[in-house]
Amino acid sequence: MRILVMGASLRPGSFNVRLAELAASVLRDQEVEVDLARYAEFQVPGYDASAEDGQGVPDGARRFADRLRAADAFVLVSPEYNASVPGTLKNLVDWVSRLKPQPFWGHHGLLMSASPRLTGGNRGLWALRVPLEHLGARMFPEMVSVAQADTAFAEDGGIAEEKQAKRMRRTIEDFVALVRAVRSRP
Ligand code: FNR
Repeated sequence: MRILVMGASLRPGSFNVRLAELAASVLRDQEVEVDLARYAEFQVPGYDASAEDGQGVPDGARRFADRLRAADAFVLVSPEYNASVPGTLKNLVDWVSRLKPQPFWGHHGLLMSASPRLTGGNRGLWALRVPLEHLGARMFPEMVSVAQADTAFAEDGGIAEEKQAKRMRRTIEDFVALVRAVRSRP
């Protein structure tokens, strides 16, 4: 089973990229093949219908769609900006949604976030669920948000606080179990 994992931040030292790397290592422990993607690979201009009519969907969105299609499921790890989804990520989703067949449809997804603040970026994930569910992605009900991310990570890259680390691992394991069960359905 193959899962695409992406931390949606370009910032060197990004907490969300760190969390994406941690999710990737938990997935590998579950014998999942991980495609750990860098956000920089999928940079696209702001959506413009006339640009789409003229030049089509940009390469960054096509690359993301190809990686999504090659995976059984995806894990998006996103910062929260102003209590919502970062504009660049929503813009990428908008471009990707223009492709046919629409690549998110039927794909299982898990959302995660990290933030230095106490809410852990969770409000942004609720906003991100809306377009993804609209596009037919099967979004896992549980989400993982790491609060106080500037101090939450241990030196080995794990989550320092044991209860939170266990909960994150359990959520990822449950997600993998669901995707495996659906895949093996006759
Ligand atoms: C933020 N940040 C932020 N954090 C949060 O928990 N809730 C919020 O609403 C916002 N809003 C917000 C808006 C904008 C424009 C920026 C640039 C930042 C802070 C954010 O969580 C912090 O910068 C993280 O470090 C971003 O994630 P990465 O880049 O570390 O992965």
